[in-house]
Amino acid sequence: MEIPVHTIVKFRTLFCSTLVCSLALAAGQSNSGSISATSAADIPHLQKQGTATQLIVDGKPFLALSGELFNNSATSLEYMKPVWPKLVETNLNSVVAGVSWAQIEPAEGKFDFSVPDGVIQEARSHNLRLILIWFASWKNGLSSYPPDWLKKDFERFPRVRIAGGKSIELLSPLSDANRDADARAFAALMRHVKEVDGRQHTVVMIQVENEVGVLGDSRDRSPAANKAFEGPVPKELMDYLQKHKDTLIPEFRQVWEAAGFKTSGTWEEVFGPGVGTDEIFMAWNYARYVGRVAEAGKAEYPIPMYANTWLYGGTVNQPGRTPSGGPLPHVHDIWRAGAPHIDILAPDLYNDFEPFAALYTRSGNPLFIPEGQSGAEGASRAISAFVNHNAIGYSAFGIESGGPGGRRGAPGDDGTPPPDPFAQTYAILDYLAPVILDNQGKGTIVSLQPMADTNAAPQSLKLGDYTLTIRYGAGGAGGDAALGTPLQLGLGRGGGAAVTNTSPARLVINSGPGDYWFVGGPMNVTFTPAFPERGGVVLGTFDETLFVNGRWVAGRRLNGDETRNHMRWPVMAAFGIYYCSVFQRQ
Ligand code: DGJ
Repeated sequence: MEIPVHTIVKFRTLFCSTLVCSLALAAGQSNSGSISATSAADIPHLQKQGTATQLIVDGKPFLALSGELFNNSATSLEYMKPVWPKLVETNLNSVVAGVSWAQIEPAEGKFDFSVPDGVIQEARSHNLRLILIWFASWKNGLSSYPPDWLKKDFERFPRVRIAGGKSIELLSPLSDANRDADARAFAALMRHVKEVDGRQHTVVMIQVENEVGVLGDSRDRSPAANKAFEGPVPKELMDYLQKHKDTLIPEFRQVWEAAGFKTSGTWEEVFGPGVGTDEIFMAWNYARYVGRVAEAGKAEYPIPMYANTWLYGGTVNQPGRTPSGGPLPHVHDIWRAGAPHIDILAPDLYNDFEPFAALYTRSGNPLFIPEGQSGAEGASRAISAFVNHNAIGYSAFGIESGGPGGRRGAPGDDGTPPPDPFAQTYAILDYLAPVILDNQGKGTIVSLQPMADTNAAPQSLKLGDYTLTIRYGAGGAGGDAALGTPLQLGLGRGGGAAVTNTSPARLVINSGPGDYWFVGGPMNVTFTPAFPERGGVVLGTFDETLFVNGRWVAGRRLNGDETRNHMRWPVMAAFGIYYCSVFQRQ
């Protein structure tokens, strides 16, 4: 290693001072959701970057570090009062909260938005963004959220019938009256959100309905449904399938191919007899309905909208056991054809994380996980979602109680809450959000060794112009354990109170030529150039961070004694977030 001092100094002041300020500024501002009046034209929207699709809020990419409230928490402002501080404590920057159709339209055409207004106001005052769920025609395969005036009028608002002609408490997706009543109310809500939030952008995305589909049978057998099922597959759908024939989801294409790739005919003629075709038929009708509702809302305020999915367990999907017609992976083409105003098809992902995350990122579908685990498992999944699947956001369900898997341990002797791996991981992702967002979709972010890494074998990975060799554990730290004790958070000499790290986050991000961010430690890193002919490797900058009051902040710029005047490879003596730059010189 060659160390021409003058080069380092010049290099440091020039390069790193701008970076750290912008990051502090960005960290201080962007993802913490500070709300400022921005131009109406710049409403939340989706934007491509490489292979990723990102949510843009106030003109900047936004990494949604979310949690979903229990279904009805946001129907009472009083109930929410003690909840908001918990959400901030968990380092969320956005909350998924329900809006009840019954609550906002107690009488037909009469709207009361006082509760959603209060929720928006409170979110704003806690520096949180909102993702609203339109609990309306459907919730978990049933219809409990429509207003009573609608639910009582069975004639005007028909229900689904299942085998044996039994009518169930589920609005039929084949009824225009059901659809139009929902669309009118949703349009009123979106018109109102634009009025009260069109400049502040507290509300950044909308979920339209919740886990739609028919339970108890593979399709609706109401008179209108039977007539449609015995009729021809709509030309609109056939045109879409023919246009996208070569890029259809493989398992769906196989179904159409098995029936001979017919371009017209009844549902069973085109897709073959069986519950699979019942499900395709329901997927089309739900997609048409939900798509129409989304379209009515977007005509008022076109922010991004998604539909969530009740996933099947194990490998076999049984339409009717899981809601038949929901946006499951094998009918994504039907949903795209039927609901072009739905931007994202989203999985409620409690089990089989990696397989379903992969299925929900096919053919360009952006990944947003509205419901998932919390705790250490949830933290790992959130990291994988953002790092391996370029997710827009992750959300643990029932966040106000710590969420599934997020059972909190006993408080410390001094009453301090036990470390929460989910909250700790969100603090890391919040600090690094600008860098992660900058690098999503570019293949420049890598997850490192899993958690128990103190004695893990060294790991080598080629990233950018260097091969990084990472040695884990105090040993790997070149014997300088005195600098800090393993798994203590962001503690350099003279650091704050010791907090034990329980976050599974272990990352490296190649944020530019010779620029690397690391999450982890204790470990040390050596850099082997891919192009040795360019000369020896020189350590440019080496920054640590500190964990202060539950948040990461920029720490010391390590040099001199702490790096043996840059004559030693970076040693990350304690768990933390580190930035370092290297370059080569003849
Ligand atoms: C999935 C639903 O979408 C949520 O609203 C909630 O009912 C959970 N299931 C409960 O586990």
